[in-house]
Amino acid sequence: MCGIVAYIGSRDAAPILLEGLQRLEYRGYDSAGVAVATKGTLKVRKSKGRVGELAALVPARFAGKTGIGHTRWATHGEPSDANSHPHLDGAERIAVVHNGIIENADELRAKLEAEGVVFQSETDTEVLVHLIASLSQEGVELEDAVRAALKRIVGTYGIAVLDAQQPDKIVVARNGSPIVLGIGEKEMFAASDVSALVRYTRQVVHLDDGELATVRADGFNTFTQEDARATAKQPSTVDWEEASYDTAGHAHFLLKEIHEQPASVERTLSGRVDERFSTAHLGGLNMDAREARAFRRVKILGCGSAYYSGELGAQLIEELARIPAHAEPASEFRYRNPVIEADTLYIAVSQSGETYDTLAAVQEIKRKGGRVLGVVNTVGSAIARECDGGMYLHAGPEISVASTKAFTSTAVAFALIALHLGRVHDLSPADGTRICAGLKALPGQIREIVAQEKEIAELAAKYASHDGMMFIGRVRGFPVAREGAQKLKEVSYVHAEAYPASELKHGPLALIGPELPTVAIVPDDELLEKNLTTLGEIRARRGPVLMVGHTRPDAKLAEDAILVPRNEPELDPILLGIPLQLFAYYAAVALERDVDKPRNLAKSVTVE
Ligand code: F6R
Repeated sequence: MCGIVAYIGSRDAAPILLEGLQRLEYRGYDSAGVAVATKGTLKVRKSKGRVGELAALVPARFAGKTGIGHTRWATHGEPSDANSHPHLDGAERIAVVHNGIIENADELRAKLEAEGVVFQSETDTEVLVHLIASLSQEGVELEDAVRAALKRIVGTYGIAVLDAQQPDKIVVARNGSPIVLGIGEKEMFAASDVSALVRYTRQVVHLDDGELATVRADGFNTFTQEDARATAKQPSTVDWEEASYDTAGHAHFLLKEIHEQPASVERTLSGRVDERFSTAHLGGLNMDAREARAFRRVKILGCGSAYYSGELGAQLIEELARIPAHAEPASEFRYRNPVIEADTLYIAVSQSGETYDTLAAVQEIKRKGGRVLGVVNTVGSAIARECDGGMYLHAGPEISVASTKAFTSTAVAFALIALHLGRVHDLSPADGTRICAGLKALPGQIREIVAQEKEIAELAAKYASHDGMMFIGRVRGFPVAREGAQKLKEVSYVHAEAYPASELKHGPLALIGPELPTVAIVPDDELLEKNLTTLGEIRARRGPVLMVGHTRPDAKLAEDAILVPRNEPELDPILLGIPLQLFAYYAAVALERDVDKPRNLAKSVTVE
């Protein structure tokens, strides 16, 4: 997704902007640009392609202490130099960078063109800069012109605006697309993502929807879009290490983050496993035992991998707490006028905390009076702020577009929630103790799985030559199969379809043959025999099988197997997913894909 960086202070802005844009590269983009204000004029460089190519266009003498920068992910108009941000007004006095979508751009463009405005690009953003310029007559403060222009806009935005004639400030605004301010020593930063700021400051302020800020070198003030009323903001401290933004010797962020999982899971568990009472200690849920008992259902919402981790969560909650639980894509839920029930506990899942569909689902639930908890990785993010409580994953920043450590930590977080809900219901102390021990064993067991990297890489290279793959699993294994298929598709572009193993004979068995391998999730649980029967059906049709489970099966049933250590049956799915991450990664490597920049994908989907 698009990225924004802005700087104002005593240093030259351009190097800081370029460095910030580089930090945002992981989000996915197709073009980039910067603008700085100097001596009453704007200097702008922008181009299709990588930030490195943009940097080559920026001369060494590109002075200007106030500036804005952008990485674009095309929505309106193809990737091109002209469509890259920043966009300027006709007099080249005002520059705007924008994330989001202006829904009434066509209508506004027609009106502006009728007034004689000449457009330079096909973007929706350019409408905004011309509107601001038309409202920036002599003596009008930039923030007033921006606020008035935004009143005419329908849609979502995170923006940063620069006026060559008012270079002592930058105006930023948020509505549906994140903006965070970074507080420095006599300098200020703004960005769409804290990753762009952590090199310079740890003190940040998140804007809320419908809020603007005037940012000056010595501070900032925030106010509402609606009536310019001043708002009070409390800075928070980012605890993510700068080292997280390096590959630390790994070939890709994806591989690095797979390897980080013993430590990231440890952090998710830290201080939360309560062995004394055989439960989980989760103060952030803001809920006493009586309230926790009152919920009759749990509904989990998230998108993509976050949704699949929610499916694992629903399974865990039903098993351990015996409360009916169900996961649904937030992107569907928000559009179907959902019935919100007072006795349902809603849980929103998001790594970034900024996924627009998930945020909109949370807002819909709250508007109808429902209670929503967040399971979120990014502290202070929009979803975290919108929820009534919840859990942070503490997985550390996830830079790879394909989610791995956040997925695993979310599943672990759900195991903790399920344990907690279970122990206020009917889960026995003995079972609680069993789950606590299982949770504590996870980091070491993940380490053992990752140690099989070389063998998994060989298997991935062998299977990557096929045009497609089937992933199957039963009950606990099915969300694992779904996430395994998702990872493979995303990074290797090999078609992968996930099916419940039980459903194979109701249709998709027709596809099975020597050309279509199956990755089968087969834990040693009460469904083992059923799963082995399914493998027999696949082998009868000469379909190749790679089994992921606990015990090597008869060679007649699976020519290849990846074995993982056994935990408790309820927690096994968390471990069964790990080899599939390595499998997807090494399939992508074998196919020479750009693993950290998979095509058509953005790390954080902050638009509809
Ligand atoms: C898959 C992936 C996406 C995200 C989804 C939700 O590897 O990364 O499917 O899981 O876009 O993102 P968050 O968790 O940030 O809400």
